[in-house]
Amino acid sequence: MNVIRTLLLCYKMIITLCNGKGGSGKTTLSVLLGSALVEAGHKVALLDTDPQHTATRWIEEIGGLELAEPGQEYGALFIDTAPRLESKEVTDSIQRADVVVLVTSPSPADLFTSRDTAILIRREGAQDRAHVLFNQVQPGTILARDLDDMADRIGLPAFKNTLRRRQAYQHAVLMGWRSLGGEAREELFKVALEIVGSVKKQSRKVAT
Ligand SMILES: Nc1ncnc2c1ncn2[C@@H]1O[C@H](COP(=O)(O)OP(=O)(O)OP(=O)(O)O)[C@@H](O)[C@H]1O
Ligand SMILES: [Mg+2]
Repeated sequence: MNVIRTLLLCYKMIITLCNGKGGSGKTTLSVLLGSALVEAGHKVALLDTDPQHTATRWIEEIGGLELAEPGQEYGALFIDTAPRLESKEVTDSIQRADVVVLVTSPSPADLFTSRDTAILIRREGAQDRAHVLFNQVQPGTILARDLDDMADRIGLPAFKNTLRRRQAYQHAVLMGWRSLGGEAREELFKVALEIVGSVKKQSRKVAT
């Protein structure tokens, strides 16, 4: 049994963040959305399947949530994945997720890789559990107006809530959840709750 299979026995809700495109925000949001659920009172861990181990180093230095440990029981597990489509860790992480979050910016430059990622998600049979999460949104811009069209082109439904481009999210790598202002925290809470709610809507057996 590989490490993902072993670990996943201990979690009630598994949330995988993916996109074959590098830099879309998978690691940032795995840690910050996980931290938001911790702040909301849940026991949350992160499984870092990216060989770069950015999330692992972030959590070891700054905290926010726990790193996944075999044998521990948690309410939710966030899986951060590498920017690859042909990787066993990525496909395993998609297969085992209760919700798959395809993280993308609204930029058309990200469209093709995001669409390829959606094709992979369908190939793994996870399309009913998958949503696009728009990150680095800049309100008032043309790109921010076309999110529904972008989600249609990617081929998956989008979460209603989005995350803005904020320097605070970049600083959080060094300064942690506590450095975030009220607006940033609120938008993270909203997205985290929408993710959790999407799992419940699928009527899968989930308890937090
Ligand atoms: N909402 C945001 N606002 C501002 N900066 C952001 C936001 N989301 C991510 N970033 C920044 O974008 C860069 C890439 O983010 P991150 O490392 O989380 O992406 P990734 O998808 O995990 O990348 P990789 O595929 O290489 O692992 C980082 O500098 C991060 O701080
Ligand atoms: Mg990353």
